[in-house]
Amino acid sequence: MLFQLSEEHLMIQKAARDFAQNELLPGVIERDEHQKFPAEQIKKLGELGFLGMMVSPQYGGAGLDAISYVLAMEEISKVDASASVVMSVNNSLVCWGLETFGTEEQKKKYLVPLAKGEIIGAFCLSEPEAGSDATSQRTTAIDKGDHYLLNGTKNWITNGSTASVYLVMAQTDVAKGHKGINCLIVEKGMPGFVVGPKENKMGIRGSDTHSLMFTDVKVPKENRIGEDGFGFKFAMKTLSGGRIGIASQALGIASGAYELAVKYAKERKAFGKEISKHQAIQFKLADMATEIEAARLLCLKAAWLKDQHLNYDLAGSMAKLYASKVAMDTTVEAVQIHGGYGYVKEFHVERLMRDAKITQIYEGTSEVQKIVISRAVTS
Ligand code: CAA
Repeated sequence: MLFQLSEEHLMIQKAARDFAQNELLPGVIERDEHQKFPAEQIKKLGELGFLGMMVSPQYGGAGLDAISYVLAMEEISKVDASASVVMSVNNSLVCWGLETFGTEEQKKKYLVPLAKGEIIGAFCLSEPEAGSDATSQRTTAIDKGDHYLLNGTKNWITNGSTASVYLVMAQTDVAKGHKGINCLIVEKGMPGFVVGPKENKMGIRGSDTHSLMFTDVKVPKENRIGEDGFGFKFAMKTLSGGRIGIASQALGIASGAYELAVKYAKERKAFGKEISKHQAIQFKLADMATEIEAARLLCLKAAWLKDQHLNYDLAGSMAKLYASKVAMDTTVEAVQIHGGYGYVKEFHVERLMRDAKITQIYEGTSEVQKIVISRAVTS
């Protein structure tokens, strides 16, 4: 067992860190305040290959491994989780799903521009009444021979208005339960597809989250991913990898807040010395450093399993469950260390604390991760 990153991994980590510092840090507070999507920055991330990191170069991707992806996600998320969620959804949910299960035609038409970052994608599973209970889809895709007729509403969709391509889960045969669900590739602009208003969120406010409405949208049969009825398994398999991405996002939010807390504690003086010399602060920093390192190891282990083509469902859920808790705990403590400064917007940690919460909710709540983990350990 070798706990050491390769030269290539270190280079990717540095490239992501430099990008975050030079391109994302300036303006991150204003984008959060005004809910402004980081359009220019996402375009540049695409040009650098960060939106199709694990896609084969044959389909326009960077051909990197999942470990590189975790490293890049951590660095980007330290500074701007609104940008990293775009990166995570595009890489893990949309590109990976299309590359693994799409037809050659679907890959050429959709995966290539997605992997190059020329367009971005969205993954549409959640509904007003189907969040954690994802088998209870109400959106329908009725088989009409050469096309499906899509009707229904999706909620809380990341990249809702900025995406060009949407992977939409819908029920074709209700009697078959989860085996009656299909995943359809829907293009923006298809008649009957309307993007609803933007959600006014607590955190990751720079990302655009919308509901989507489908009324008699005609989706060609060739836009179905996999065999008839494969949609639910497609979603589950795709989300397993997505959870490694969100775990790494949580890790980045935690390590970003921790680094700011260490810096502040070494500068700020109280009772005659730097607060980093007070045991009350030292104990907090020690807990933060240890928990972040444990979260990082879980993320890297899940990514390593994926790179070895071994099962990573359990490891991905463990990484997400733990890293998102560490993100929450660490950001709360980082605000506490900053005292009054931590409660105002100029000091970044209050934003990181708000951003942290979503990592315990999307791509499966912490409770969903516990279902996955408990089923695996008791099976
Ligand atoms: N890989 C392959 N197949 C899987 C699987 C996996 N990881 N997990 C489940 N399945 C299969 C099962 O084997 C089963 O198939 P069979 O009947 O053929 O055996 C089928 O799927 C149904 O599985 P379950 O019986 O386990 O399903 P369930 O109803 O008990 O639900 C659940 C399990 C884990 C709670 C699941 O519903 C779930 O993950 N829910 C959360 C959904 C979620 O993460 N939503 C996030 C939305 S996307 C998002 O947030 C993106 C964004 O914008 C940032």
